[in-house]
Amino acid sequence: MTRKHDRPTIFTGRPAVSNLRKSNSPYWLQTTPAVAFRPDFAYLRVVLPVYFDYNATTPLDPAVKAVMLPYLDEIYGNPSSVHQIGVRARAHLDEQRDRLAHLCGSKPSEIVFTSGGTESNNLAIFGVARTLKAKGRHLITSSIEHHAALHCFQYLAKKEGFAVTYLPVDASGRISPDDLAKAIRPDTILVSLMAANNETGTIQPVAELGALCQEHGVLFHTDAAQWFGKEPFIDIRQFNANLVSICAHKFHGPKGSGALYIQSPLLPDPIIFGGGHENERRAGTENLPAIAGLVEAFTRFIPTPVFDRKQLQPLTERLLNGCLAIPGVHFRGSAAHRLANTISFTVEGCDGISLMAGLDLESICASSGSACSAGSLEPSHVMTAMGVDPRQANALVRFSLGRASTLDEVEHVIARFPEVVMRIRP
Ligand SMILES: Cc1ncc(COP(=O)(O)O)c(C=O)c1O
Repeated sequence: MTRKHDRPTIFTGRPAVSNLRKSNSPYWLQTTPAVAFRPDFAYLRVVLPVYFDYNATTPLDPAVKAVMLPYLDEIYGNPSSVHQIGVRARAHLDEQRDRLAHLCGSKPSEIVFTSGGTESNNLAIFGVARTLKAKGRHLITSSIEHHAALHCFQYLAKKEGFAVTYLPVDASGRISPDDLAKAIRPDTILVSLMAANNETGTIQPVAELGALCQEHGVLFHTDAAQWFGKEPFIDIRQFNANLVSICAHKFHGPKGSGALYIQSPLLPDPIIFGGGHENERRAGTENLPAIAGLVEAFTRFIPTPVFDRKQLQPLTERLLNGCLAIPGVHFRGSAAHRLANTISFTVEGCDGISLMAGLDLESICASSGSACSAGSLEPSHVMTAMGVDPRQANALVRFSLGRASTLDEVEHVIARFPEVVMRIRP
C-alpha cells in the first residue's frame, strides 16, 4: 500500500482543511498557486478544494447578492409600518411576491415566504394535519423523506394521535403509485412525498402521485427542495400538488429563505404565532433581503435549470464509472430517474465518517447522507429503506455537482478516491 508521501506530488497552496496546514508532509505545500498538478496527469489543474456537495448547499450567486444588498441597507423599513418607509418596503415585498407567483403560475396570495425548506415542510405538514384533524387522522409519507418532513410525521404520530403510513421504495429509491393507491384510506387527510431525494438524487413520479391524490380527494404536499433548478419547471401545477416546498439555498439563493406554495382556498393552521404577517399564515416581520434573494435566484435559475443536464450528466457518469472501478463500490439510486448532478454509492469495508474525513484530507467535499445527519454514526435511513444492508448503509458517499464543476475535478476525484478507500479498509 502506498503511503501518503510516497505518491506523486500534488502541488497545492490551498488545502481545504485547516489542520492539513499542520502536516509535515511535502504533499501539502503552503504556497501558491491554489491548484493541484499531478505529473502523471499532465495539464490537469484543479482548484482546491473540490466542492462536490451542491445538494447540501450552493454558493450565493453574485448577481443575487447584488439584488439583496439594497434591502440590507436603504430599503430597511418594516413592511407592516404605516409610514412612508414601511409603505416602500411593503411595495417591494408585494412586488417580490407577484414576481414569484407569476413564475409559478399561481396567485400571489398562494405564496408564503418562509425561512427555508425545513419551515416550509413543517408548515405544510403540521398546518394541514391540525387543520383537517376533525376530518381524519391518517397521513401518508415515505420512508425516504428528508428529516425536515419525516420528523414532523414522527412527532404527529407520537404526540398528537395521528396514524402515519410510510410508503416503501424499491431498490432504486422510487415510490410506487400502486403502493400509494393501496395506502389511501377514507380518513387520509394528507399525502407528503418528496419530488427528488437529496441523498440519491432519485426523482419520484410526483405528477402521477399527485394525480392519484386528486382522484381520491386527498391533499398532496411535495418537498421539492432538491428538485428546483435541476429539472425542467413550467408551472407549479405540474406537480399536481396542493402544497409545494421551495428552498432558496439549493439554487444559489440565500440560506434561511424559502417559500411554501399553498393552493387556495386551503388555509393551514400556522405553526408560528404572532402578528398577522403573510395573510395570517406565518407570523414574523418579513425578511426582505432573503425574500428578494429567493425571488431573484428563482427567476434566474429555475425556468432554465442552473444545474444543466447536458453539462452534468456526462460528468457524473464519468465519475460514477471511475468510482465503480474500485472493487466493493455499489451504485445506489436510479440510473433512469436520477438528478443529473447527483450520484451515490456505498463502499464495502468502509464507514461514512472515515470516507468523508479521507476525502476531506484530499480537499474533496462530499457527503455521506443529508447534511444534518452527516457526522452521525446512524446508517442512512434512505439506504435502509432501499434494502441496503445496515453496514453498507453506513458507508454512503454522495457526490453532487454543480455549475462550476469540471471534468478536471472529476478526474482528480477518480484519481484520489481509490487511495482514500485503501487507507480505510482493514
Ligand atoms: C429534500 C430537502 N428538504 C428540506 C431540506 C431543508 O431545507 P433547509 O436547509 O432550507 O431547511 C433539505 C436540505 O437539505 C432537503 O434536501
